Amino acid sequence: MPSFKKMKKRVKKKNSGLSSGRGATVTRNSIPLCKILTSDNLHLAEIPDESVDLVVTSPPYFNVMDYHKHIKGDKSERYRVTRTPDFERDYRAFLSDVTARMKSVFRVLKIGGHAALVLGTSIVQEENGRSRHAPFPFDVVSEATTILDFMFQECIVWNKTTAGAKRFGVFIQHPKPGYYYPNLITEYIMILRKPWLENPAGDISFRRDDAEEIEITEVMKKDTANSLWTMAPVPPNVAKKLGHPCPFPPDLVKRIIELYSHRRGVVLDPWCGCGIALQVANDLGRKYIGYDIEEKYCKLARKLVNVKPKYRVQHLVPQYNLIGGESCDS
Ligand SMILES: C[S@@+](CC[C@H](N)C(=O)[O-])C[C@H]1O[C@@H](n2cnc3c(N)ncnc32)[C@H](O)[C@@H]1O
Repeated sequence: MPSFKKMKKRVKKKNSGLSSGRGATVTRNSIPLCKILTSDNLHLAEIPDESVDLVVTSPPYFNVMDYHKHIKGDKSERYRVTRTPDFERDYRAFLSDVTARMKSVFRVLKIGGHAALVLGTSIVQEENGRSRHAPFPFDVVSEATTILDFMFQECIVWNKTTAGAKRFGVFIQHPKPGYYYPNLITEYIMILRKPWLENPAGDISFRRDDAEEIEITEVMKKDTANSLWTMAPVPPNVAKKLGHPCPFPPDLVKRIIELYSHRRGVVLDPWCGCGIALQVANDLGRKYIGYDIEEKYCKLARKLVNVKPKYRVQHLVPQYNLIGGESCDS
């Protein structure tokens, strides 16, 4: 049995991993508003039940990225991992781990509050040489609505206009059935909601009729209006300069935060990376809380959070053209 002194030392050491930046302190029973915590997000232990209005986040997409290698300065891009010894086993284990974290997200959300998850599918190579396509966005939603009590609200397809995985070349070489592998140019913004009860005992997220009006812009009419949002991702050279391999485009999170939270509401990003969602939340007059396991990303996020986000001046909107010969009704 360790002595009391030794135990106290151990607890102190364990808690020293939880840092919230220069001079900031986090107490267990008060919500750590406007803080970015270097911590594993499994329990979100610093956040009381039903205290967050909106979660905007993007977890790691299975094993496509080794963030630890990235922060160690791996210049050869070997931090982009796409191999797994046993897909079924490793993918299932990863999915259960994400669901365990979503359970904490559910706990801290206010009744009626939303969780917007930006998720992508990924191509993974097994050791036996076979490649597998991980349907991560759909499985996360399935577990969140069956194992957990989330309500599914929307699936917004994010048209990134540029391919993360370029695969169509296979078909160009073998233009035959069975060789079709499209370029992957989309991700998914899954909107989940903590169910709204008739007579909620807890704190309720905002009532929509009391919220402020949002200006209806041309971009809204031509793009946000539909469940297909067109927006280029942050270019790799800009991400590299910023110091995180996959930052959110500020305009993407701006849409989500404006549409699903009210001014002074609390926005949480439990996988915050360099904190773009928190930066935008702050800019839009919301309170924020961020978690990331890597101190280097948290340091960067604490620096960026008070800088004005770089919103785009010009926006892409889809336009469809008729191609081909004469139509049969002409
Ligand atoms: C897809 S990135 C998020 C990027 C973010 N949207 C941005 O704008 O920079 C996922 C992040 O989750 C962090 N992460 C991975 N495991 C974690 C854990 N157990 N707890 C907290 N953060 C974790 C990684 O360090 C990484 O920065």
